[in-house]
Amino acid sequence: MLNVTHLRTVNLTDQVKVSPALIALREATRDLHSELDTLSPLLRRPLPESVYNDHAARVLGWMAPLEQGLWEGPAASLWPNEIQIAKRRGKVQWIEQDLLNAGYNAAKLAELEHCPYVPVPRTLAQSFGVAYVSEGATLGGAFLFNRLASFLPGLPLNWLKGYGVETGPLWTSFQRLLAQHVVSQESILEAQESARQAFQSFRCWVIDETPDTERSWI
Ligand code: HEM
Repeated sequence: MLNVTHLRTVNLTDQVKVSPALIALREATRDLHSELDTLSPLLRRPLPESVYNDHAARVLGWMAPLEQGLWEGPAASLWPNEIQIAKRRGKVQWIEQDLLNAGYNAAKLAELEHCPYVPVPRTLAQSFGVAYVSEGATLGGAFLFNRLASFLPGLPLNWLKGYGVETGPLWTSFQRLLAQHVVSQESILEAQESARQAFQSFRCWVIDETPDTERSWI
């Protein structure tokens, strides 16, 4: 199986000095990310459109409560202005666009179950830990978009396209803010714990607990 965690897409991540917080987050989550690489249905071949769409529906059920906790939850007021919440909080809409393209309507979108156990940050460090996962996923998305666009020409793949050309700059600014705001040993530990919880909740909800009726990839 392809192990892609070490790969770099087009200079997305190399423009800022890597902070102790980022090193710690990578160390804490490397194993969980590697597992996703192995388990993701998006690396199956053949890859029918239904697999992408079913997977996107599960991701939406995880992303919706995660984004809500991150940008509107108890610690949301602690974000520094420079984080650009308005830009970062639209990931649910990317996935919704994919599902509308696949034939969903508003009622069907509203019926999708939401993951009840995503981590809800209560401190800024925990917010950075959770956002590390949702922002970092845009890097993996860019990588997957480049791989899948030719296999799935009929799909817009908005979830994988993510920020598009803004992916690199937004990741760079995230890294810079992480370095400025997650500095003490205590806050680094908090961020690590939250990032692990975010990865684990993704793994459970999107991979392990998807009902058989909603997984066209088995
Ligand atoms: C088959 C699925 C996936 C593949 C192939 C993949 C691939 C990648 C690749 C190639 C990178 C590095 C990009 C770069 O440095 O330019 C990356 C980074 C990252 N991905 Fe994934 N990814 C996948 C799924 C996910 C998922 C589902 C999540 C979160 C739920 C995620 C979270 C992250 C994070 C946090 C980073 C940033 C790592 C860092 O630089 O510290 N990935 N991914």
